[in-house]
Amino acid sequence: MIKIAPSILAADFTRIGEAVAMLNESGADWLHFDVMDGNFVPNLSFGPALCKSIRPLSKLPLDVHLMVENPAFWIDPFSQAGADILTIHLEADRHANRTLQRIRDCDMKSGLALNPSTPLCSVEPLLAFCDIVLLMSVNPGFGGQSFIPNSAERISMLREMIDRRGLPTEIEVDGGINLKTAHLCIEAGVSILVAGTTVFTADDPHDMIRCLRDDSHVQCKTGS
Ligand code: DX5
Ligand code: ZN
Repeated sequence: MIKIAPSILAADFTRIGEAVAMLNESGADWLHFDVMDGNFVPNLSFGPALCKSIRPLSKLPLDVHLMVENPAFWIDPFSQAGADILTIHLEADRHANRTLQRIRDCDMKSGLALNPSTPLCSVEPLLAFCDIVLLMSVNPGFGGQSFIPNSAERISMLREMIDRRGLPTEIEVDGGINLKTAHLCIEAGVSILVAGTTVFTADDPHDMIRCLRDDSHVQCKTGS
């Protein structure tokens, strides 16, 4: 079953509570929460305080994507803020193995994200410590970018690597997801799709979420 994780980064920040309420009733599976530190990526977004405010409003698990240097520092603050899934970037952590284990010790699912230029083989020694591997299909830092075409091939290669080991690790893809690229990623073996712009600019976000998951463009009211 494909999971859809709309990114709150693409919501209207003056009406964030309404966006959370909309997602509660949308059929989405997770709420994706993009944290940027202006250092690992050239942009700033939000942090644990907003996560804590959203927690009691959201019926969905909070999928926190840390695009920050020194991600281990943020495990306790986000655990206390109610994160359910905590994803760190491999490029930001020299001790990813230890960080992923600490995330699990805090009763969160552990995620490991890879930038588009990071070789897939670097995730191999860490696979057993990841509940999720998140493949970036844009260079992180901004919503609304175009999907990098070789991302689907990277998903297939990772899918094979995980299946060969018989691991339950899920693959998540993030960046430039619309109906067309969602189809490519599902074919390649992804199980979690992050979508920001496509969901929040849709005339009918609920319908868009259903179409992204079902991969059935034909019956979709809103094209993308
Ligand atoms: C990019 C973020 C993504 C992004 C997705 O740095 O990690 O989650 O917000 O946005 P869209 O779907 O607009 O590419
Ligand atoms: Zn993200």
